[in-house]
Amino acid sequence: MIPVCEPKLGSKELENVIDAVKTNWISSKGKYIDEFEQRFSKYCGAKHGIACSNGTVAIHLALASLGIKAGDEVIIPTFTMIATVNPVTYTGAKPVLVDSEPETWNIDPSKIEKKITPKTKAIMVMHTYGHPCDMGPLQEIADKHDLYLLEDAAEAHGAEYKGERVGGLSDAGCFSFYANKIITTGEGGMVVTNDDKIAEMARLLRDQAFEKKRFLHRHVGFNYRMTNLQAAVGAGQMDLIDESVETRRRNAMTYNSFLKNVEGITLPPEATWAKNVYWMYTVLIEDSFGMGRDELMVFLKEKGVDTRSAFYPVHIQPVYENQYKGEKYPVAEDLGRKGINLPSGNMLTKEQIKTVCDAIASAKR
Ligand SMILES: Cc1ncc(COP(=O)(O)O)c(C=O)c1O
Repeated sequence: MIPVCEPKLGSKELENVIDAVKTNWISSKGKYIDEFEQRFSKYCGAKHGIACSNGTVAIHLALASLGIKAGDEVIIPTFTMIATVNPVTYTGAKPVLVDSEPETWNIDPSKIEKKITPKTKAIMVMHTYGHPCDMGPLQEIADKHDLYLLEDAAEAHGAEYKGERVGGLSDAGCFSFYANKIITTGEGGMVVTNDDKIAEMARLLRDQAFEKKRFLHRHVGFNYRMTNLQAAVGAGQMDLIDESVETRRRNAMTYNSFLKNVEGITLPPEATWAKNVYWMYTVLIEDSFGMGRDELMVFLKEKGVDTRSAFYPVHIQPVYENQYKGEKYPVAEDLGRKGINLPSGNMLTKEQIKTVCDAIASAKR
């Protein structure tokens, strides 16, 4: 089976983990936390990095650090992974949904303003499958309405908007280091920000809101700490991040060259101002292909190719659909129905990509 994604680890990760174990620094203090936070935030062009347990809690931590609470509204794309919306729900705020733009599959800036109300506090965008959002217009809307702008950058380590890396392009960027991500710590996440106050609050809340006078707490904090063991892997992965991004991009170009002439397949986008990192190489199976997306997934599985369907939009999720009854988001629905993630890991060979593409071509009716 050609896996949809698998991590690639170098020797430095093992060396660092052995060092952390031998020196007894296995919990959430230790030199690898500092090293990983510093190196990754610098990579994103951000002043601060606050490492935490995973990408979902990175988003919750960022929202909580901004004081988002019950009664507030947060605008997000409906075409996203469930972990964008759930942390908004954890805060008690209402997630307000916006459709995607067909060109980049990201939140459509032209549809945001009509969703803004006096309760809106923030817009959280998501760089879908590694393609950056059009941050210029998004920042303009946020500035005009005095809203926070956040990036769910869980899928987009190293992606660039007009030559600048994502994560540091808003009030706070949130990353995941799950095993299928561009770099991994097994489980892990990070909030990056240029704002001293947000960073300070995020550090405080990550650690039970412990302050100088220990065991007296002024805030409801969390235990969202990353361990030194995870960070030891992360610090090692930082040596490989450039290679990892370039591998993803090279694999995407290889896929494009094999699939560009297959009728009924829409290739992934890359806007002129964008560097897409193709976290998941995703194509759309159009009706003209002759076999539906779900049927193709079964067909490919039988040929030894593992795939995933694109995200089902938030407004059709069983857990959320009651909240959004009657709301229609045609672009997101289309992407959710037609999108398929093909094998995308850094260990993928050119031969494997050809096998996948040959299998797809043989399925065409
Ligand atoms: C867009 C998006 N946000 C958040 C997350 C959550 O990250 P984690 O799995 O580390 O909690 C993911 C994970 O895949 C994601 O794709």
